[in-house]
Amino acid sequence: MARILRDVAAMQDASRALRKQGQRIAVVPTMGALHEGHLSLIRLAVSVADSVITTIFVNPTQFAPGEDLIRYPRPFDRDVALASDAGAAYIFAPSVEAMYPSGFTTSVSVEGLTSVLEGASRPTHFRGVTTVVTKLFQCTLPDVAVFGQKDGQQVAVIKHLVKDLNIPVEIVVGPIIREPDGLAMSSRNVFLTPQERAQAPVLHRALVLGEGMMHAGERASEEIINRMKALIGAESQGAIDYVSVADAESLEEQKMLGSGRRVMVSLAVRFGTTRLIDNIVTDVP
Ligand code: PAJ
Repeated sequence: MARILRDVAAMQDASRALRKQGQRIAVVPTMGALHEGHLSLIRLAVSVADSVITTIFVNPTQFAPGEDLIRYPRPFDRDVALASDAGAAYIFAPSVEAMYPSGFTTSVSVEGLTSVLEGASRPTHFRGVTTVVTKLFQCTLPDVAVFGQKDGQQVAVIKHLVKDLNIPVEIVVGPIIREPDGLAMSSRNVFLTPQERAQAPVLHRALVLGEGMMHAGERASEEIINRMKALIGAESQGAIDYVSVADAESLEEQKMLGSGRRVMVSLAVRFGTTRLIDNIVTDVP
């Protein structure tokens, strides 16, 4: 079983002790409700480090009022068992008070990259993410941190953060783990009604359609985006928030697709009260 630490100083001490023994330390930050996507990241972390710390913290500052902070699932004992089985040696699960004691006033924000896509609909979200990730790095003192491509913009933002602030943590990215029907695994999928769950795989089909058009020679993003939106509209009752074709690193929207450019085709769609995101990264041929 992994050792559970709730105290910041105890976590830092444990990490320093591991480093003293010459161990390479990886952290896998999560908000819990672990599924195969998270577990794949823990296994990836095990393959690149000697000791793996999984953090479980439902970070209130990345949820806007009215978002799903209160209903976010928190199956802690199950998470501990799953993370341990996947190879985590430590679980850092601080309280909200430990992370944000009264008088807390500092935040870390990445400009530009965070105002588009997810940031356009969720203007305070990434400041919460970059602040908590910076704090989790300070608490766990890792050599390497593993994130999932599922949150493609989050990956771009965190890479930018560590570069801008000279944070000596290597960022490793794991691929998106999907259900057999293509739906990207997400802690939020449990909120889908059976009907919404049946429709949700259309998101992945739309991404595959967009990627296929690109590889068949289509260079106008508008055509790709329109076809993707039409497919989602025809095969689901999902309300489209955005469909985007952007440079995978700068996240700048690409009107015409230049050969050799790495792009992220991404989307956000609301099914009832549940907002799902997904993406595919591909090189324009
Ligand atoms: P959370 O949504 O719990 O996700 C934790 C990590 O798991 C993220 O890096 C996310 O991209 C990855 N992940 C989620 N679903 C995945 C899937 N289907 N395949 C592969 N990886 C997947 O992302 C967060 O938490 C938070 O913003 C956090 C970084 C912990 C900061 O609070």
